[in-house]
Amino acid sequence: MAEPRTWQSETARLGNADPSDPTGWFEELWSSATAGDVTMPWDRGDPHPALASWTNDRDPGTASGTAVVVGCGLGADAEYLARLGYETTAFDISPTAVAAARERHPGSPVTYAVGDLLELPRAWLHAFDLVVEIYTVQAVNRSVRSELTAGVRSLVASSGTLLAIQAIAVEGDDDGPPWPLTRAEIEAFGQDGLTPVSTEELAVPDSPHNPGIWRAEFRQA
Ligand SMILES: C[S@@+](CC[C@H](N)C(=O)[O-])C[C@H]1O[C@@H](n2cnc3c(N)ncnc32)[C@H](O)[C@@H]1O
Repeated sequence: MAEPRTWQSETARLGNADPSDPTGWFEELWSSATAGDVTMPWDRGDPHPALASWTNDRDPGTASGTAVVVGCGLGADAEYLARLGYETTAFDISPTAVAAARERHPGSPVTYAVGDLLELPRAWLHAFDLVVEIYTVQAVNRSVRSELTAGVRSLVASSGTLLAIQAIAVEGDDDGPPWPLTRAEIEAFGQDGLTPVSTEELAVPDSPHNPGIWRAEFRQA
């Protein structure tokens, strides 16, 4: 049997293949991976360290209410938030990714759903006390960046919190995916009533994300 192709090379090939359909390739990638033709993308069992340290720094009593994980992939961050006590929804545009997340976490309290940030169901608008977005916006071509960012903002409930974790863009490097975020692009989460609480630049040792990542928190009035 042939060795599976790496998900990194497959991402580089698919991510630019059809500019008229900037999100259609995710399902192809996830289904090739679950078929064993490609290694499993974005595969981790632990929560993202920048999410885990953010929650650890907060009062444990604040881990309540509803949370949503955008572009959840295999579900590690959603499972973590559910363990902390959030009533957690997690969605991804890829039905295959959602099926893989459910299979990976049998009996999970997380509500996994297929959903597109560019076409969100009305029931999710302003519905979540905590919105966690990690690496989804940067994974999609810049042609729809402002629409994706607006989609993330629209999930935040009144008095809710948005946490965005994204790679920091290197000036002049537009050779995605991923397409990391400039300061102006991370600050663009702070619109529609959301105000910035903090915008940190974090180093990530042993990561392809050089010069590091943004961890930005916003609060809805
Ligand atoms: C770079 S991966 C990150 C996955 C996960 N958040 C993580 O940090 O491991 C981006 C994910 O976003 C999903 N995605 C891409 N466009 C999306 C959209 N418009 N709506 C929802 N999910 C999307 C992809 O299928 C993929 O699982």
